[in-house]
Amino acid sequence: MNNDIEKVLISEEEIKQKCQELGARLTKEYEGKFPLAVGVLKGAMPFMSDILRAMDTHLEMDFMDVSSYGGETRSSGEVKIVKDLDTKVEGRDLLIIEDIIDSGLTLSYLVDLFKYRKANSIKIVTLLDKPEGRKVDIKADVVGFHVPNEFVVGYGLDYKEKYRNLPYVGVLKPKIYGGE
Ligand code: PRP
Ligand code: MN
Ligand code: MG
Repeated sequence: MNNDIEKVLISEEEIKQKCQELGARLTKEYEGKFPLAVGVLKGAMPFMSDILRAMDTHLEMDFMDVSSYGGETRSSGEVKIVKDLDTKVEGRDLLIIEDIIDSGLTLSYLVDLFKYRKANSIKIVTLLDKPEGRKVDIKADVVGFHVPNEFVVGYGLDYKEKYRNLPYVGVLKPKIYGGE
């Protein structure tokens, strides 16, 4: 285990099983369709890779990179597009893939944007949901695990850009982020 990690919340094995389970479910939901899978960079990358390989259906992949306007103003809900989709959204069935929903601001911005662009349907799949963090009312259609209001890292989730490559989701030792 990485030395900065206090405890593992969700193991590599649990994540693997969950991806198979959710992938099978999404395969059914998109049967006969050609969804556009939208990964939200960077955090969604590992989950996107695993969940889409568990889906036995035709699909198209694209990526969005968004960031809030500076850490402090996050609660304003202002989100900046760093990289937009290459694909036209109009008439498409969108599957937005996220690693975590916390305040909900990132996703609520994206859902509004894709509605404005006239998506035919929009579904959200997230590996983790932290309902206690919510500032806007948004729900995922498919959730892997609920997590408590703790700072979690790994499997895409970072602290200062580190730990995204851990194969599990864990909690950092408080000394790493300056707490005690
Ligand atoms: C994190 C995470 C989600 C978002 C969730 O991304 O990957 O995309 O925050 O938070 P919210 O529900 O409060 O909006 P971040 O902006 O840190 O970018 P990253 O994916 O590149 O780490
Ligand atoms: Mn993210
Ligand atoms: Mg981040």
